[in-house]
Amino acid sequence: MAALKLLLAFFFVSLLTLVNSAATTMDQTQEETLTTSINQFSTQFYKETAALKPGENLIMSPLSAEIVLALLSLGAGGNTLTELNTALYLPNSEFTKSAFKPAIAKLNSVEGVTLNIANKVFVKDGEMFALAPEFKKNAIDIFSSDIQNVDFSASKQAAATINTWVEKKTNDKIKDLISADSLDGMTRLVLVNAIYFKGNWEKKFKKDVTRKQDFFLNSNDKVQVDMMYQSSKFPYADLPEWNAQALEMKYEKSDMSMIIILPNEVEGLKSLEEKLATANLKQDVFDKLHTVEVQVSLPKFKIETEINLTKVLPKLGMKLIFDQANANLKGLLQNDEQLYVSEAIQKAFIEVNEEGAEAAAATAFQINALGGTRYGKRSFRADHPFYFILAYKKDCRVIFVGAWRGFVE
Ligand SMILES: *[C@@H]1O[C@H](CO)[C@@H](O)[C@H](O)[C@H]1NC(C)=O
Repeated sequence: MAALKLLLAFFFVSLLTLVNSAATTMDQTQEETLTTSINQFSTQFYKETAALKPGENLIMSPLSAEIVLALLSLGAGGNTLTELNTALYLPNSEFTKSAFKPAIAKLNSVEGVTLNIANKVFVKDGEMFALAPEFKKNAIDIFSSDIQNVDFSASKQAAATINTWVEKKTNDKIKDLISADSLDGMTRLVLVNAIYFKGNWEKKFKKDVTRKQDFFLNSNDKVQVDMMYQSSKFPYADLPEWNAQALEMKYEKSDMSMIIILPNEVEGLKSLEEKLATANLKQDVFDKLHTVEVQVSLPKFKIETEINLTKVLPKLGMKLIFDQANANLKGLLQNDEQLYVSEAIQKAFIEVNEEGAEAAAATAFQINALGGTRYGKRSFRADHPFYFILAYKKDCRVIFVGAWRGFVE
């Protein structure tokens, strides 16, 4: 009886906390469905982007792209909408409308670290180009989007307006997202998402322990990197099915973590990436972590990646949004011009050092009109290419993914 009461009391308290923290009632199943969608999309997004940039260090935020695509989907119809929902693993627009608002609110209120997610719709000025009322309402209510009128035909000034907003929202980490050349008199809208993250490790590395050490690019070549080192208790797992190890490094006072997956073999990243493409991160990695003493060697690194999404998204099944004649984006503007996505770009950045990590990403869509072992001391020596994830650990939601291959730009 006492146990039951305790359980009930706990249930009530956690319910209250949830309601208070996100200021929205949250449906647990809906939240889980969205998390699964985001992680499935992340895996495919990483796979196709990595295929376009073989051998490069990579950082990307599938979540940033997903948020803009979800917003765009609320202005799409017909087969264009079906393609978007299928590729994003989203059931339908009703789900999108009810799931994204609490999810973004929750991430924006993660404690201990800085995590900011912002959206903005830039729309051509002039009454003729007013946003469709329903789309405008959804952009503001669901995606907390700001709306600003811009004269895109003054392309230099318009690009500067958009890029300044992105810089401000990413602590100057993402610059020149939009090029003035891509904007012109036919540009109607630019939808932008910006994500900024900064967190300190719960267990920091000591600066004076960092040493120049070898990092093996492959079986033949090596470079010197600044290798950080510490021996502490960390959640860790051997992943024999993947021939790899996993290490979780938590951020101070928060539920955010970086999870690093290190192949056992120097040239093992490629086959690991293939396994990750069909993986369930929660079951296959997160649930297997157990806290043990680990001797961690991890290079300091910094990565900047630019992704041309017009090349990646069609590979994920999103073709119609780019189809000048057949895209159905009729729900964006009040007028009935034929609209299509003319450019889509993401830039992302990450820096990892002794203190913690700082990461940022911004995605813009430009829309034009036509015209293992649990115990014992383990060693985790990241001295060869590895894969990493930055996630909201509580529900395993992926915010950034990347790979460090040692090449210094
Ligand atoms: C992206 O790729 C498309 C198609 O190959 C190309 O036309 C466009 O110029 C590229 N955009 C950027 C910003 O590089």
